[in-house]
Amino acid sequence: MGKGNTMDSVGIAIILLFLFRQWTSSAGADTHWTYTGSVGQSQWSEYFPDCGGNKQSPINVETTQTQHDPSLTPMRPLGYRQLGKKPFTLHNNGHTVEMSLPDWMGLGGLPWQFTALQLHLHWGSSGDRVGGSEHTINGQRSAAELHVVHYNSELYTNVTTAKKRTDGLAVLGVLIETGEGTNPGFENIISYLGNIKHAGQTVSIPPFDVQSLLPVNLGRYFRYNGSLTTPPCYQSVLWTVFAESVTVSHEQLRKLETALFSSPVESHSLPLRDNYRNPQPLNRRRVLASFPLDTITMYSVGEVCAIVIGTLCGCIGLAAIIYFVIKTIRSKETEKEPKQDVVFKTTSDPEKEEATPQPEP
Ligand SMILES: *[C@@H]1O[C@H](CO)[C@@H](O)[C@H](O)[C@H]1NC(C)=O
Ligand SMILES: *[C@@H]1O[C@H](CO)[C@@H](O)[C@H](O)[C@H]1NC(C)=O
Repeated sequence: MGKGNTMDSVGIAIILLFLFRQWTSSAGADTHWTYTGSVGQSQWSEYFPDCGGNKQSPINVETTQTQHDPSLTPMRPLGYRQLGKKPFTLHNNGHTVEMSLPDWMGLGGLPWQFTALQLHLHWGSSGDRVGGSEHTINGQRSAAELHVVHYNSELYTNVTTAKKRTDGLAVLGVLIETGEGTNPGFENIISYLGNIKHAGQTVSIPPFDVQSLLPVNLGRYFRYNGSLTTPPCYQSVLWTVFAESVTVSHEQLRKLETALFSSPVESHSLPLRDNYRNPQPLNRRRVLASFPLDTITMYSVGEVCAIVIGTLCGCIGLAAIIYFVIKTIRSKETEKEPKQDVVFKTTSDPEKEEATPQPEP
């Protein structure tokens, strides 16, 4: 190899490095961000200043630190069950799978009227062993998380202006766990992921009841002021994280974790997984709970079973003890005065019969 060749490759390397710098440092909406790597979540704030703010999302909800606010009424999804004629659109944007929502859908139960925009998901890569939810409850990460995004259509004319303002957005956070049965609501999305494997791809899907993605109990939730969990991390979100989680099957979670790529067609395939941001500092923010603290403890199915069985065993044990104590006392009493008992029984019975008037036929 000659000296000239080496100089050439060094030159090319320098040029490539320069182009790469240019590409990664072009701040704003064009910057290609990821969850790990050179523009990973710990670098977001270098390119998107709001990501370094003091009201960021997600957070860890420490239930004992929450404040019960009785004025927080149950969330009211508006038009979620209404299907319409137009199909829904499912899109792989390289960061998540996003479904646009029709503008007749909205959210009630908040200080303003909110209009629905889109929903999307965050997930992990290793089943429910580690989890891929963004919000954590008492340090526990769920398998995945659904976000339903709305904008304040009472104060702002469109999302472009709303998304940069405090109280501009309202997002519902639904924690997803795994269980045995297939979740038919989520199947409406998961069964089409194969059609949008690569970033930039879009597929039309039949409209479905979006409320079927939410937990049954919409009255128990945590509320706090936070941000978008992805760049540009605008601190404009009034968060509602439901206390009740929803369940998808292990197979559904596996499909979500493995179906998509964060890279476009005809490029090196990068799996789209672990698209969750770590919990951000709370910084003196209040986290409200719509329900009182003493009922906040959330039990898993296993724990509920253990409690029920434990209580049953306890009751049976106690009943057995009482039974034997009474039996012992009785047998002792009958040993002492067997006659009186017999006398009492024989004399009281005929008396009772005489006293009761016979009904006319
Ligand atoms: C959004 O609303 C603002 C202010 O009302 C307006 O200036 C802007 O053009 C609107 N943007 C879009 C995309 O409609
Ligand atoms: C969120 O911020 C608004 C002011 O922008 C305030 O009125 C409201 O009480 C805050 N909510 C919570 C849960 O702290």
